[in-house]
Amino acid sequence: MLKELKILFATSNQNKIKEARAILQPLGYSVQQLLIEGAPPDFVEPQTEDIKIISSSKVEQSLEMISGTEFSDFSILVEDSGLFINNLGGFPGVYSSYVQKTIGNDGIIRILEGNNNRQAEYRAYTILYQNGKYFDSLGICSGKISTEIRGSSGFGFDPIFIPDLGDGRTFGEMSQSEKDSKSHRGKSLRILSDELRGPSE
Ligand code: IMP
Repeated sequence: MLKELKILFATSNQNKIKEARAILQPLGYSVQQLLIEGAPPDFVEPQTEDIKIISSSKVEQSLEMISGTEFSDFSILVEDSGLFINNLGGFPGVYSSYVQKTIGNDGIIRILEGNNNRQAEYRAYTILYQNGKYFDSLGICSGKISTEIRGSSGFGFDPIFIPDLGDGRTFGEMSQSEKDSKSHRGKSLRILSDELRGPSE
């Protein structure tokens, strides 16, 4: 396989890898986890509320880690993502992973109890480094936080996230391909793939 078509995803999140594979494989790319000496990269995240800055930092840290290794001329993919709830000033945002681990979906539902404005969005900022060039894209998926946990598909906040462009089901109640066709990650990765292909004549 051409090195350009093999993408090494620098993340420890297996759900992100599974979704990136499902989205990018039909577009002709193979996605594998970047493992250095058997371990995924352990990033130091800068103190910021901007997922673009965190993503940029992840790609630079990855490039440093692979310099001089067998992976040094492979395409590297990074992503930073989160759930941004309007009524909570964008919380949990960049703290999504921590909030998911601590208060979880029950906690978010409790915080929003009695609140009619349940608008939120998932955002994913992805950067792909290939042959000395950076390709980046932001994917946004707007939706609402449900009043109860529904479904067990997907991961993280999916059982409480109802995409606006849907039929009222949460991502947790959808198949993987339905989620991918609407999700922030799906959008972001499809934009990246278009950028990689370049303008069509
Ligand atoms: P990070 O990009 O590693 O900082 O983590 C992003 C966090 O946002 C995840 O751990 C989840 O809690 C949440 N998140 C991002 N994308 C999704 C998604 O597609 N479904 C559910 N939760 C998500």
